[in-house]
Amino acid sequence: MGKFEVLDHPLIQHKLTLIRDKNCSTKEFREIVNEISTLMAYEVSRDMPLEDVEIETPIGKSIQKQISGKKVAIVPILRAGLGMVDGMAELLPVARIGHIGMYRDEETLKPTEYFVKLPSDISERQVFVVDPMLATGGSAIMAVDALKKRGARDIRFCSLVAAPEGVKALEEAHPDIDIYTAALDEKLNEDGYIVPGLGDAGDRLFGTK
Ligand code: PRP
Ligand code: URA
Repeated sequence: MGKFEVLDHPLIQHKLTLIRDKNCSTKEFREIVNEISTLMAYEVSRDMPLEDVEIETPIGKSIQKQISGKKVAIVPILRAGLGMVDGMAELLPVARIGHIGMYRDEETLKPTEYFVKLPSDISERQVFVVDPMLATGGSAIMAVDALKKRGARDIRFCSLVAAPEGVKALEEAHPDIDIYTAALDEKLNEDGYIVPGLGDAGDRLFGTK
């Protein structure tokens, strides 16, 4: 079973509270999602492998550490995942960016895939799928399906707010992936929204509706 972790760093929790507030403006929402994403990138990259490298300081030769191994890809689920890309890329600047387009039918809550564009070497990359909301889990499951179908093997899912129902569904469908979230909320309501959540993440990020 993959890892499930709530990233409860005080700065992340504080900033998440700010964007949950219904009076948070679109501008502030976008800026704070960006900031939280940078903090999350720091947490989810903690176990990146290091290798020894010889360098020369002004004093002399020395063996020090540098990040080794796998290349990284950040893959947002459109639209709302886009809000997390720049913040993550700030700490992972050499990451390639893939895109998976998906929307949820408001009645059935079932996702429809409408776009997939990934780096050609996705199978060799550590993939960070980003989407602020893990609700029923349908979109995340379909996104991971799309990635695996194209060869991705090392996948981590990063959300801001998750519902227990979505975490369970994603773990059952893809037990091999790691799931990170800034908050594990109470439940889903009858309309498929996370309670207390933060509303519709895409609409709040882009000022639609
Ligand atoms: C939202 C959110 C997730 C999905 C989560 O996207 O960004 O992708 O819902 O719900 P699920 O876990 O029940 O699938 P939405 O479909 O509203 O599209 P948008 O990002 O374009 O607004
Ligand atoms: N998608 C959102 O944007 N918000 C929710 O609460 C659930 C799904």
